[in-house]
Amino acid sequence: MLLEALTWLTTPAPQWARQAGYLKELIAIQARYRRCRDSWEPHLQASRAAIIAAVDRCDRRHHAIVYGSGLLLDIPLDTLSRAFARVTLVDAVHLRSTRRLARQFTNVRCAETDLSGVAVGLLLGTAKGADQLPRPIAPTVEPPKEIDLVISANVLTQLPVTPLQYLDRHLPLPADDLDLYARAIMQAHLDHLAQLDAVCCLLAETEVAHVAPDGTILESTDPLRGLSLPSPHDSWHWTVAPLGEVSRNYAIRNHVAAAISMPQCSESASNRRGASP
Ligand SMILES: C[S@@+](CC[C@H](N)C(=O)[O-])C[C@H]1O[C@@H](n2cnc3c(N)ncnc32)[C@H](O)[C@@H]1O
Repeated sequence: MLLEALTWLTTPAPQWARQAGYLKELIAIQARYRRCRDSWEPHLQASRAAIIAAVDRCDRRHHAIVYGSGLLLDIPLDTLSRAFARVTLVDAVHLRSTRRLARQFTNVRCAETDLSGVAVGLLLGTAKGADQLPRPIAPTVEPPKEIDLVISANVLTQLPVTPLQYLDRHLPLPADDLDLYARAIMQAHLDHLAQLDAVCCLLAETEVAHVAPDGTILESTDPLRGLSLPSPHDSWHWTVAPLGEVSRNYAIRNHVAAAISMPQCSESASNRRGASP
């Protein structure tokens, strides 16, 4: 608890990230990882393997960008640093430990950006009603044309979490409105990924289940709220909270999918293959 408070006080974070709750959330993820390291490891390894499979499909390797870099637990940073001329790590917050790790690689930089585009709008109090909520805006961290690999690293379903918690505290809305808003935030991220002329590795949870000690699924929710993802390259279970972490009656188990897609832009794709126009 003391360590977490100290981290909150000493982490250099944008004011909006601190105020809206992103820093607190990331510190909580770090604390949970420390407690649940063993049950997270298979998921982290599978995530890294999917990213390496995506790297193998990149024939142009100037720039890789990671959305939701967080604590870099699921990111094979050494592989990315060796494979690409430069690597950009994007998250609302990077803790000091993450920055130290990134500094070991001369071609890796950290950028703090709101990937949903709604955080500052919510904080400025433009949320006067459901029809005036700030619209999700895709990030403009880098000129899109310069990105060769984009990794969305288990961030998609996290994007609505802090905005919804913020709304819950400041502007309680009907569940249906919140549901639509969460979907809009996630859809904007998916649209942004699809528009980039880059190989894309999308890692995302597709189910959150409460699992009893005998393996019975007590409850299951769709964190994508009905949105669909490209067909997966791989998928697996992630025991995010083993028995006893949240409840003695159930563990929380996510189902995670990894989808790898190739660049959509035909002109650039054919240039990459060396085809004549
Ligand atoms: C489950 S973690 C992803 C795990 C991370 N790849 C790792 O290896 O530690 C979700 C990440 O999404 C980030 N995140 C959530 N909402 C965000 C937003 N609006 N903008 C930028 N990052 C966001 C969180 O800060 C967190 O690092």
